[in-house]
Amino acid sequence: MIAKGPALAGFFFLLGAGLAAAQGDAKRGEYLAAAGGCIGCHTETRQGATPYAGGRALKTPFGTFYGPNITPDLQAGIGRWLLADFTRALREGRRPDGAHYFPAFPYPSFTRASDADLRDLWAYLRTLKPSAQPSRPHELGFFFRWRFLVALWKWLFFTPGPLQPDPGKSALVNRGAYLAQALGHCGECHTPRNWLGAPKKNRYLAGAKLDEGTAAPNLTPTRLKRYGDGELKDILTSGLFPDGDVLGDTMSEVVRNTTSKLTPPDLDALIAYLRNLPPLPGEPK
Ligand code: HEC
Ligand code: HEC
Repeated sequence: MIAKGPALAGFFFLLGAGLAAAQGDAKRGEYLAAAGGCIGCHTETRQGATPYAGGRALKTPFGTFYGPNITPDLQAGIGRWLLADFTRALREGRRPDGAHYFPAFPYPSFTRASDADLRDLWAYLRTLKPSAQPSRPHELGFFFRWRFLVALWKWLFFTPGPLQPDPGKSALVNRGAYLAQALGHCGECHTPRNWLGAPKKNRYLAGAKLDEGTAAPNLTPTRLKRYGDGELKDILTSGLFPDGDVLGDTMSEVVRNTTSKLTPPDLDALIAYLRNLPPLPGEPK
């Protein structure tokens, strides 16, 4: 005999779990959004700016992009989207009408995220307060305005699809790879680019010059061996170097939005992954 109470509770529990799987888990999604640093590019830098309402200027050699409003507002944001539209945007770099996104939106990294994580991210974005602030048009150089040219770029440099775990590496290193490549998009700054703005694969995370005289240093063991694990953890959680020096603005923002929000096991995984990279020589040129 099965007692009716517990059986019913079990039924509702399973129903609840099933619904959460179908609709996504917003709480998990909030964590994934931090791990992906979504807020940085989608929020103005001024005091009191509405999170995710867009307007952040992103300067690139091709012009200035503005992160759009991704709150659920029906007009100004993405309130009319379905999960399928969101998945297409992050997985394939395409708008609901099929046009291509510029890779200033790091979908070449986010395409590596799992279906479950995209679903949870979507569930989280749906919980944001809608903002009616219109997205700002990008200000791009003459040749770079055309979205159809991005099709060519994608054909050359973009491979969509989730990250496949490397069976030769530990679960910890694989988790770190996922955090660095699929969500944290560390390579967007720490990998040098060719003249078409695509990351150079053979210099992955070996450091790159960014605009305005900043450089993102080499993250392979050649350089990072100078820090112990504890020191690296301090850098990534407090933004302070062992000698008390402060990280520059660009990386400080990554620490604030992303690496300081990671759970201790995820931070360990990220560090284990960096330690496991093939050591590449040199500093950004
Ligand atoms: C490095 C900056 C950057 C980061 C980080 C970033 N985005 Fe974006 N995002 C952009 C830019 C720029 C665009 C506009 C691209 C275009 O117009 O082609 C965009 C577009 C989008 C769009 C399409 C909006 C629309 O109206 O069509 C969505 C959805 C989106 N981002 C979600 C996310 C999520 C979720 C994350 C975190 C996982 C994220 N973004 C992280 C820069 C960024
Ligand atoms: C938006 C660009 C950007 C992104 C994304 C980014 N970084 Fe950085 N990072 C920088 C810059 C610029 C510096 C140099 C800061 C300085 O010297 O003050 C830096 C410095 C660092 C340092 C200090 C290294 C040293 O020896 O000085 C570490 C460690 C680091 N980043 C790790 C990461 C990891 C891990 C990720 C991905 C989760 C990441 N970064 C993503 C731009 C970025």
